[in-house]
Amino acid sequence: MNATGAIAAAVVPAAGRGERLGPGAPKALRDLGGVPLLVHAVRALTRSRAVGLVVVAAPADGVAEVVALLDSHGLEGKDIRVVAGGDTRQESVRLGLAAIPAEVGIVLVHDAARPLVPVEVVDAVAAAVRAGAEAVVPAVPLADTVKRVEPVRGGPEPVLDTPDRATLRAVQTPQGFRRDTLAEVHAKALAEALAEESAGAGGALPPVTDDAGLVERFGGRVVVVPGHEEAFKVTRPLDLVLAEAVLARRRAADAY
Ligand code: CTP
Ligand code: MG
Repeated sequence: MNATGAIAAAVVPAAGRGERLGPGAPKALRDLGGVPLLVHAVRALTRSRAVGLVVVAAPADGVAEVVALLDSHGLEGKDIRVVAGGDTRQESVRLGLAAIPAEVGIVLVHDAARPLVPVEVVDAVAAAVRAGAEAVVPAVPLADTVKRVEPVRGGPEPVLDTPDRATLRAVQTPQGFRRDTLAEVHAKALAEALAEESAGAGGALPPVTDDAGLVERFGGRVVVVPGHEEAFKVTRPLDLVLAEAVLARRRAADAY
């Protein structure tokens, strides 16, 4: 792989509404310690020497606002592009990926909703792809025991079984990919969705909630590297409380 191919580009899906966080601005634009979540996430990526370009998939009606926001938070000197995202996370990633120049060989995908990912995780994921993996996910062991259930609205829900916790991992982002692999699985997923739609058979397959899941679905090989507890996703209000606390601790440590 040549030198250009070894520098990664990052896609940041940021077009979600943040419904589980409650009423307010789109989640990526919500405040964390005076700075929007998206700005934290983009900064975490630009801090990595492995990343040369960041493409943000913004809410479709918020592209200009996101461009202005990134500029006003000191990111104007970085190579950052903003495109309109889609109706699903998968579509937002696909649209972001399409904006990456052809010569870029490694692509990371990082949720705007994971603002506090340490740069070491970004570096480790990019390094694992550079070292030859086609798909890499950072992950952490689970604290809770997990049960599979037969979903029943309002419960009680019959338990089917209890997977061995030692074999389970909670996966985070950034996930890293060979660019050709990621583009191929996204194209296949789109073709599959269109075929399902025209056959009137939507929803036959379980939804894939991350990019590595698409690689698995089409027979590719995904490996896990250590993630970090601070790379958690801001999903519900309590996650924002935790994120504020982590950020305050970091700022206090930096002040020493
Ligand atoms: N995302 C996106 N485009 C969508 C939906 C989600 O780019 N159509 C992004 C979100 O902005 C977020 C990431 O995908 O950075 C992970 O999704 P999630 O945590 O589910 O965020 P939201 O979809 O915004 O939240 P919710 O599901 O609670 O509405
Ligand atoms: Mg969502």
